[in-house]
Amino acid sequence: MNFAAYLDQQKQYIDNMLKIFLPSENNYPETIHRAINYSIFAGGKRFRPILVIETALAFECTKEDVANYACAVEFLHTYSLIHDDLPALDNDDYRRNKPTNHKVFGEDIAILAGDALLTLAFETIAKDNPLCNNAACQTPYTKIKIMQELARAGGTFGMIGGQVVDLESEGKEIDIETLNYIHKNKTGALITSCLRIGAIAAGVNEKQLEDVTEFGNKIGLLYQIVDDILDVTGDEDKLGKKVGSDENNKKATYPSLLGLEKSREISEQIAREAEELLRHTDLKTGFFKNLIFFLLNRQY
Ligand code: IPE
Ligand code: IPE
Ligand code: MG
Ligand code: MG
Ligand code: MG
Repeated sequence: MNFAAYLDQQKQYIDNMLKIFLPSENNYPETIHRAINYSIFAGGKRFRPILVIETALAFECTKEDVANYACAVEFLHTYSLIHDDLPALDNDDYRRNKPTNHKVFGEDIAILAGDALLTLAFETIAKDNPLCNNAACQTPYTKIKIMQELARAGGTFGMIGGQVVDLESEGKEIDIETLNYIHKNKTGALITSCLRIGAIAAGVNEKQLEDVTEFGNKIGLLYQIVDDILDVTGDEDKLGKKVGSDENNKKATYPSLLGLEKSREISEQIAREAEELLRHTDLKTGFFKNLIFFLLNRQY
């Protein structure tokens, strides 16, 4: 099976798990349940939950053992997209090939839908996972450590911190250190936490966790640099969102700071560094090596 087909198979597994862990839209009050189902099932690559699962697999757990954790990161990620698209933030009308949540449900419900998914993420970690066959992956201690990971990654020392500096940098000339702070936090922190969550669930040692973290930081930065490049060069139908959003908002991005060519060079350099890091970790499944080049060359 080629890598794209494998990713698609894992994505379908995640979609099935999301159906199990997300309350259906028939629940009262229907408006909010329709709003959260709308954004979760609008599409999405499911890249972050796949990372949780692949890291757990690399350390000999099964995907069922960590299915609730994988869904939790997708809930938190989708909340971040709903809020990121709001008029007060990036003011975007399309996401995952559909009108954004606030365009369909209004800003009030979109704000609450984001809040609901953020809260649900932590409930989903805490609750029993009926699919798990390895109790060690779901002990109360493991769950608390995983909640701490996700809270840290999503908070002011992670995604929120990055989003704040992203907003405060609009229309300003910032240096590369500040841009890297934005990218490492608004996007990298959650991506790194996905690997850490898979690894923690599998009970890795400190050295393994450090290695996984370093690798996660690399691919997290790569992910956002490529996102910036695609905002200039991408195809809207493939991306499922409008291009040119960053320029409209005068965002500080890799292309705006360094130009497209240099941004591409740096993304290639980071991909090589990620490959080098991989040699010294226990993430020895073929998945991660393929992943680096998939992320570097992705069109969506
Ligand atoms: C978009 O994330 C926001 C970023 C942090 C770059 P994705 O590109 O992973 O979006 P989906 O989940 O596939 O829609
Ligand atoms: C996204 O950065 C960061 C978060 C959603 C936390 P962007 O604003 O670049 O993401 P897109 O391009 O809207 O998906
Ligand atoms: Mg943004
Ligand atoms: Mg945005
Ligand atoms: Mg972007």
